[in-house]
Amino acid sequence: MEHRLVNLTKAANLIRNSNKICVFTGAGISAESGIPPFRGEGGLWNRYDPHILEIGYFLTKPKESWEAIRTIFYDFFHQVAPNPAHKVLAQWESDGKITGLITQNIDNLHAQAGSVKVYEFHGNCDRLLCLDCNKSYPSLSVDLKELPPLCPDCFGLLKPDFVFFGEGIPPLAYQQSIEAASSCDLMLIIGTSGEVAPANHLPHIAKRNKASIIEINREPSPYTKTITDIYLEGKAGELLPELNDLINLNN
Ligand code: APR
Ligand code: ZN
Repeated sequence: MEHRLVNLTKAANLIRNSNKICVFTGAGISAESGIPPFRGEGGLWNRYDPHILEIGYFLTKPKESWEAIRTIFYDFFHQVAPNPAHKVLAQWESDGKITGLITQNIDNLHAQAGSVKVYEFHGNCDRLLCLDCNKSYPSLSVDLKELPPLCPDCFGLLKPDFVFFGEGIPPLAYQQSIEAASSCDLMLIIGTSGEVAPANHLPHIAKRNKASIIEINREPSPYTKTITDIYLEGKAGELLPELNDLINLNN
C-alpha cells in the first residue's frame, strides 16, 4: 500500500478509536472557504503590515486601522461559508468523539458548521465591542461606511471582539483550551503555521500528556518534525472527508 494511504489509514484508525479528541485549528482550515491565510502562499501578511492589528496602533489611529480591518475581514465576511473540513469536525463532535475544538480563527465558521465546544482563542469577528461602555453589537448590525464606527449608545469607539497583537487571550477560552489540550488522547492540528504564541504551546501540552498527534497541512510546520506522529500533507477540505469515509468504511 502506498505511503499516503498507509498514513491515512493509520490516522483513521486513531480517530475511530478515540472519543477524547482535541482539535486545534488555524487559518488553513478556512482557506477553502475563501478566507486567505495570514502566512505562506497568498498570505494576508504578504499584502498588509501586521501592525494594523496592534492594539497601540488601533487606539492611536482607529480610522486607518479600521480601513484595513474592514477590507481584510468585513467586506466579504458574510459571503463565506463553512467548507467540508468544518462540517466533518462538527459531525465528529455530534458523534461524541471531540471533547474540545480550539481555534485561532476569528471567522465564526466552526460555529456556523455546527460545532458547539469551540474555544475561540483569538476571539471572534462577529461582535464589535464599545471600549467606553463595554456594550457589544453583532458586527453585521453596525454600519461600517463611516469609520471608525462609534457606539450607538455612548458614541465610544467600537473595536472588533478579536485579540489584537499586544492584547491578552480571553481568560475563559484560555482555560478551556488548556483543559482540552491536557485531557485528550489524540490532538488533530489542522492548518496552522504554529508561529503565534501562546496558542502555539497547546500542541506541546497535549504531547506532554501522552496524546498522539495527527497534523494536516499543505506544508510542514515546526510541529511536523518534532511532535507530530502522523503528518497528512494536503488540503483540509479534502483530507477530512477522506478520513471520514475511511472511518465509516469499517464501521
Ligand atoms: N489546508 C490545510 N492547511 C492549509 C491550507 C489548506 N487548504 N491552506 C493553507 N494551509 C496552512 C498553511 O500551510 C499554513 O501552515 O495553514 C497554515 C496557515 O498559517 P497562518 O496563516 O500563519 O495561520 P495561523 O497559524 O492560524 O496564524 C495564527 O496569527 O496573525 C495571527 O491571529 C492571527 O490567528 C492568527 C495567528
Ligand atoms: Zn458605548
